[in-house]
Amino acid sequence: MDKNRGSFIAFEGIDGSGKSTQIRRLHERMRDAGIACCTTMEPTASPIGSLIHQIMTGRIKTDNRVTAALFVADRLDHLLNDVDGILHQIDAGVTVLTDRYYLSSYAYQSVDIPMEQVIGANAQSSAILRPSINIFIDISPDTAMERIQKNRSHRELFEKKSRLVQVREKYLEAFDRLKDVEKIAVIDGERDEQAVADDIWDVVREYVHAR
Ligand code: ADP
Ligand code: TYD
Repeated sequence: MDKNRGSFIAFEGIDGSGKSTQIRRLHERMRDAGIACCTTMEPTASPIGSLIHQIMTGRIKTDNRVTAALFVADRLDHLLNDVDGILHQIDAGVTVLTDRYYLSSYAYQSVDIPMEQVIGANAQSSAILRPSINIFIDISPDTAMERIQKNRSHRELFEKKSRLVQVREKYLEAFDRLKDVEKIAVIDGERDEQAVADDIWDVVREYVHAR
């Protein structure tokens, strides 16, 4: 581990798996441990990200291949933009926690497009920066639907149970394909928040350092 650079930790999981809850908790824990840290997410708040949000909520219609390409472009901007891009933060010694990265594309876009193509389309991002560790919070699609229905007023395009079943399967398929190149920790997300947070901290502390 390069002590001058920040680590890069990607959170993955189906919708409602608890990523944003756990990122918030980990961020606090890291700050308490004296680790410089920031949080971010995909799709981003950039113009490309906002286009994606409009597609996800059905306001703009487009082909799945176009959506997949927009995720690629949004991700590259997320990495490379010189104001608050991920690379910029990491080079400044800040550890970055992201809610989703290219494994999300491998899982979600591969429901409609062959995974090989999605992986190929994301090759620039994986060549520029692989996560120090991917944290996959695993919950069943049934639990996801319960949580989403309880807490959200509208459902986005992918928040249908049959879709979540497919996406979870694609995640597992991607992990199997990538087991030699990606570091992936699968965390049981069905337990209470504190138990999940403790497991995540046990994994993550190996990859971070105080400055
Ligand atoms: P995501 O960011 O992965 O979509 P959230 O963190 O927003 O997931 O969690 C989805 C909903 O489930 C939220 O209302 C959150 O409070 C709740 N939640 C998160 N973690 C747990 C947990 N371990 N047990 C029960 N409910 C949870
Ligand atoms: P968001 O509202 O952030 O959902 P969540 O809180 O569950 O992460 O919406 C992100 C949606 O975009 C989510 O359904 C997953 C999808 N997505 C893709 O399909 N491909 C991608 O590469 C990324 C980053 C997200």
